[in-house]
Amino acid sequence: MAKTIESLMKEKRIFEPPKEVVEKSNIKKFMDAHGIKTIDELYKRAEDQEWFWGELAKELHWFKKWDKVVTGEAPYYRWFEGGKTNIAYNAIDRHVKNGKGDKIAYIWEGELGEVRKITYEEFYREVNKLANGLKSLGIKKGDKVGIYLPMIPELPIAMVACAKIGAVHSVVFSGFSAKALEDRLVDAECKALITADGYYRKGEPLNLKEKADEAVAASPLIEHVVVVRRLGDAISVNMVEGRDVWWDELVKDKPDECEAEVMDAGDLLFLMYTSGTTGKPKGVMHVHGGYQVAVSQTLRFVFDLKDDDVWWCAADIGWITGHSYIVYGPLILGVTSVLYEGAPTYPQPDRFWEIVEKYKVTVFYTSPTAIRLFMRFGEQWPKKHDLSSLRLLGTVGEPINPEAWIWYYEVIGGKRCPIMDTWWQTETGQFIITPLPVTPLKPGSATFPFPSLAAEVFDDEGHPVTGQGGKLVLTKPWPGMLVGLYKQKERYEQTYWSRFPGVYLAGDVARKDEDGYFWIQGRADDVLNVAGHRIGTAEVESALVSHPAVAEAAVVGKPDPIKGSSIQAFVILVEGAEPSDDLKKELVKHVSVEISPIARPDSIIFVPDLPKTRSGKIMRRVVASLVKGEDPGDVTTLRNPEVVDEVKKLIEEEKAREGR
Ligand code: WT7
Repeated sequence: MAKTIESLMKEKRIFEPPKEVVEKSNIKKFMDAHGIKTIDELYKRAEDQEWFWGELAKELHWFKKWDKVVTGEAPYYRWFEGGKTNIAYNAIDRHVKNGKGDKIAYIWEGELGEVRKITYEEFYREVNKLANGLKSLGIKKGDKVGIYLPMIPELPIAMVACAKIGAVHSVVFSGFSAKALEDRLVDAECKALITADGYYRKGEPLNLKEKADEAVAASPLIEHVVVVRRLGDAISVNMVEGRDVWWDELVKDKPDECEAEVMDAGDLLFLMYTSGTTGKPKGVMHVHGGYQVAVSQTLRFVFDLKDDDVWWCAADIGWITGHSYIVYGPLILGVTSVLYEGAPTYPQPDRFWEIVEKYKVTVFYTSPTAIRLFMRFGEQWPKKHDLSSLRLLGTVGEPINPEAWIWYYEVIGGKRCPIMDTWWQTETGQFIITPLPVTPLKPGSATFPFPSLAAEVFDDEGHPVTGQGGKLVLTKPWPGMLVGLYKQKERYEQTYWSRFPGVYLAGDVARKDEDGYFWIQGRADDVLNVAGHRIGTAEVESALVSHPAVAEAAVVGKPDPIKGSSIQAFVILVEGAEPSDDLKKELVKHVSVEISPIARPDSIIFVPDLPKTRSGKIMRRVVASLVKGEDPGDVTTLRNPEVVDEVKKLIEEEKAREGR
């Protein structure tokens, strides 16, 4: 996104927080309670992680208190060691026991307009029934359970039910293909899968069970499939005798009480697969103890949630954003959340604003891609609605360009709502670099590390630098941190902790300015950020080469005004395969089926060859600079420097064709 990154570096405006927001904020209250006078003093005091996180962990329930807040060393820190707890107990049981059972946990709105309001007590009973149902199928503590569900209340219910009995959930985004689901179910060694017959997207009923069946057929360890009836008569599904059971039939006669399994703080809670630089996704592991403190307390201070708030995190639960800030964080805080099933622009571009108005949403969190999309539709859509209930806004997933920031601030927030630009990752589990509602904001900057956490920008030698681009690293542990990659110990140590020993390498390029503000610029590795989704170039490449007509492929990011990056693929065909527009279409479809429509190339260029090193490795970096119209630098050491000009010519021809 060349233009916007440039404008981002030049951004000088500062937006001071409204006095009223500061005065009433949770962070101010915390400071008062501890006799802390200024924000600087807070950041200073919080450097004592033992004190800070110990104080915050006291807000939660522990069957047995921890011995030590943080112990161990990189890359294997241990948080709240000795503590016994269960995140599900904190998410629901605690509220019901404290007389908050009548409060609404979720306001669910289906795409077609159906509404379901679920209280904490109802949620609790649904969780218990399913937990007992899972037990009756033989699921025990430590077993892995796949969850492949759309945005319906059964999704958070299924997650919390697994947690309650100590089972480990592995949620797979419902937009993923059967093949992607299969890879994850097999790698995670799931014993059961919870899915649905289908769901609505842009008004169309989609069959989910069919994809689930295909994946399960190739996942030998799966013994049971639990199926939610979402569409009912709208589609027909095939139930496999002895393997498949309808959710409603499974829970029908199960008791609505279920004791939470007592877990060690370091016991596994979930796996979340994410893309890396190789073709194989990595199973990021998160645990009960540190994670529950991290997600609830960051949400409490960053989005300032209080008892009367209506919180809407408009992400999908299939990603880490939803796990941390639709499911666990808000439930532990006991707030009311909106859960919306469908597309942001269905049936019209004001669907989100209609929901904000209807439920008087007070705090709203979305992605820069969504904001840029709404910008393109124009102000008239939000202007139709009363958005005055909003008091705080947020973004996540990719850098936000100042133009989009200002639009969000003015048009959606009515110049009253501070914007929390939160930088974090699947691996971090929680917000890391983020403003607080009291922070003076610079549009496009995620500002500072959360109190008690620490980040730096390193040059190639590992020295902290200011005022120039470098590698973003985290130099202190944090409670929500991953504990490893499932079954890939070496990859975990290698990917995150080896470049600068003892320091966590985030994989992003960033700059720290003279005031200490962080400006995240994008990925430093072969991972693309497409509309806030993380896509490994190697994954798309291996999907492409699995097609019989493809000999080799290279995938790079191409700057895109809405999505940040779009996917540009270069394909070398096998002998005898004919390049054609139909073949391009076929390859795009092939990637959708192999991975997901979100990983689909936006453009494919057939090339006779690609720039390669002497050892035959494709030089993606050279191709990427050609796509961006930049100088590829010295190419004389390549095995085939002459191809560079040829590829450049083909890119220009393609551009001319698109322009027509
Ligand atoms: C990558 C992590 C964390 C939930 C969503 C994505 C990018 C994330 C920001 C931000 C600039 C951001 C980074 C990061 N990213 N938030 N506020 N500003 N970039 O989770 O799929 O694990 O992706 O998203 O590149 O490394 P994820």
